[in-house]
Amino acid sequence: MPTSTVAAPSTGAPADGRPAEIVLAAVGVTLRYGSVTALDDVSFTVRAGEVVALVGPNGAGKTSLFNCVSAFSRPGAGTLTFGDLDLTRATKHAVARAGIGRTFQNLSLFPGSTVMENVLVGRHSRMRASLPANLGLWRRSRREDVAHREAVAEVLDLLGLLDLRDTEVGGLPYGTRKRVELARALALEPTLLLLDEPVAGMNPSETAELTEIIRTVRDQRDLAVLVVEHDMAMVMEVADQITVLDFGQVIAQGTPSVIRNDERVREAYLGNSLARDETDTPPDTGPAPTADAAARRTEEA
Ligand SMILES: Nc1ncnc2c1ncn2[C@@H]1O[C@H](COP(=O)(O)OP(=O)(O)OP(=O)(O)O)[C@@H](O)[C@H]1O
Ligand SMILES: [Mg+2]
Repeated sequence: MPTSTVAAPSTGAPADGRPAEIVLAAVGVTLRYGSVTALDDVSFTVRAGEVVALVGPNGAGKTSLFNCVSAFSRPGAGTLTFGDLDLTRATKHAVARAGIGRTFQNLSLFPGSTVMENVLVGRHSRMRASLPANLGLWRRSRREDVAHREAVAEVLDLLGLLDLRDTEVGGLPYGTRKRVELARALALEPTLLLLDEPVAGMNPSETAELTEIIRTVRDQRDLAVLVVEHDMAMVMEVADQITVLDFGQVIAQGTPSVIRNDERVREAYLGNSLARDETDTPPDTGPAPTADAAARRTEEA
């Protein structure tokens, strides 16, 4: 695993063919919950403009890793850096301010608030004015408010949500609510976006649509994306690099074609279903998760 110097986050792959700079670097990250080792000496990198997928069976440690990256959990050992920022010491707020946005495995929206209000929450770390104490501050806060709403409207437009800006989130279909959560993460204007199972529970057309949206935002906003997803067809389509976790350990890393043909990954997670996908199933309609993963998931539920 590369442990090269971590450069400050920057965007876009260089035109000269050199690899893009590393924006996120994990080296030897270990996290324990009592006797459970959720992450065991995990190392990986995310480069500017890259989509990196984190896959593995239920309980493999994927969300635990997201929690470490976004400072919701503190690893007991290892280093985790985003540019100059030490993520093992930073506060959640500092992580957001530095440009790491995330969505959650289980939707965490305010159902009684509108789409606009929910997504405005994502601007929080960019808001300077709070309670205006005098007229000058009040004017500044009004100006800021307008600017934030414009920034949110731009994100809503990108995600096809603009017409729903004044609609309460609680009444929206599940797939649309997932998009609202993505909008909220994007409203932060992140340079690294963490997506925890963005297409879980979506039907094939919603999945295809969201996959396209992830590509578009990566390209338009020069983002690095770290995505956890059980839908391997989606992962194979969108990821530049894949890291496979099993019982908290990295068991494989590489491009989709390397991972597809890795014996250990097939045994631990993929079974033979990807081999079948290659011949029988179009890329965006493959089974997700695979039979093996689904069986483990059911056992643990
Ligand atoms: N707050 C916690 N307290 C104790 N154990 C935990 C906690 N969170 C996670 N674990 C355990 O850590 C391990 C990794 O869990 P994690 O949620 O990271 O897995 P995951 O790969 O995200 O799984 P899934 O695909 O089901 O979302 C599991 O054994 C889980 O039971
Ligand atoms: Mg999880």
